[in-house]
Amino acid sequence: MHEVYVLNGPNLNRLGTREPEIYGSMTFAQLADLCVATARELGFLAQVRQTNDEAELIGWLHEAADGNIPVILNPAAFTHYSYALRDACAMLTAPLIEVHLSNPLAREEFRHMSVVSGLATGTIAGFGATSYVLALEALARQT
Ligand code: DQA
Repeated sequence: MHEVYVLNGPNLNRLGTREPEIYGSMTFAQLADLCVATARELGFLAQVRQTNDEAELIGWLHEAADGNIPVILNPAAFTHYSYALRDACAMLTAPLIEVHLSNPLAREEFRHMSVVSGLATGTIAGFGATSYVLALEALARQT
């Protein structure tokens, strides 16, 4: 079965209680289960990970690059300023899909800039947990 990494950045471990009016009421564990189940239906083995640590997230991207593994990435706040994360994304060899629960373009101005988008195969934002489902479906159609 093809592997896919579903990588998540800072504060996403707080889903369920974090600003539910913006991010919804689903917990991170529930989101992870949804991703694993959806991936399985599509023939992928999803590894869902979350970290609040930029270095750890970059390390996972290096792993994906070395393994030619596609990545679905919600970089969270790193989206907007982490050039180190962007540089790690530039090393990926398989598709990269950027996802967001909310629509950053409909929010504060500092969220309008993504340093990752220019390297992504595509971006899906604004559909809550469904953004991840759509990203997995998009990946299945790519590969
Ligand atoms: C987010 C949007 C980012 O602006 C924010 O910093 C997050 C979550 C989203 O999924 O909507 O942490 O990536």
